[in-house]
Amino acid sequence: MKKLIAGNWKMNGSLAANDALVRELVRGLDGNAGCTVAVCVPAPYLAQVQALRAGTPLELGAQDVSEQAEGAYTGEVSAAMLKEFGVRYVIIGHSERRQYHGETDAVVADKTKAALAAGITPIVCVGETLVQRDAGRTVDIVKRQMAAVIHTNGHCISEIVVAYEPVWAIGTGKTASPDEVQQVHAVLRAQLKAATSHADRVRILYGGSMNAANAASLLAQPDIDGGLIGGASLKAPDFLQIVRAAR
Ligand code: PGA
Repeated sequence: MKKLIAGNWKMNGSLAANDALVRELVRGLDGNAGCTVAVCVPAPYLAQVQALRAGTPLELGAQDVSEQAEGAYTGEVSAAMLKEFGVRYVIIGHSERRQYHGETDAVVADKTKAALAAGITPIVCVGETLVQRDAGRTVDIVKRQMAAVIHTNGHCISEIVVAYEPVWAIGTGKTASPDEVQQVHAVLRAQLKAATSHADRVRILYGGSMNAANAASLLAQPDIDGGLIGGASLKAPDFLQIVRAAR
């Protein structure tokens, strides 16, 4: 299974900065990524990045999607709209969406379903907070988050990508150790195996302060199938180094 390295730009970028970043990424990939590489960009920049990446191995992703198909949902963006801009991946249930926008497990599950129905691969995020980890609840939390998505999506679950992102590791410079991450990924893999006979083809990414220095040791673990990269995805040399570690 090819690894997936996905950049999560979050609410960063500008027309000028995106142009420079994507051009440098495309030059660095040199027509052959060796793994799957995507950038998940703010919605207003989808058209810009779609044009910049055309004809290159760089895939386009979004950061959120509505669970609704269309209608009176001011501010929302549907999966069909994303699809029109060549979006292949969409991040769903990022901890920042859960925390600042009140996204529940049920909403995350419905958004996953909407993305799958449109033929877009959801990157479903799960992960515990520091309080939950310290209370020994990591496994309970990620299994609960995952169970909701499995329940709503049935056998289609083999079509998703999962991102395990411990909330305490996001943007903090603190990374879970490769062993700690592997343990959680193995739990998630077992949970997926109970739901589908194709669990081995589900990519389980790690996210949370992944960078050029720690990527190789994380990606060497048997159940770490790629990374969801925030801060380091905004610097082309760092992001490309992570891509090289995934080849
Ligand atoms: P980070 O963010 O790499 O900046 O920690 C990862 C994420 O939130 O997806």
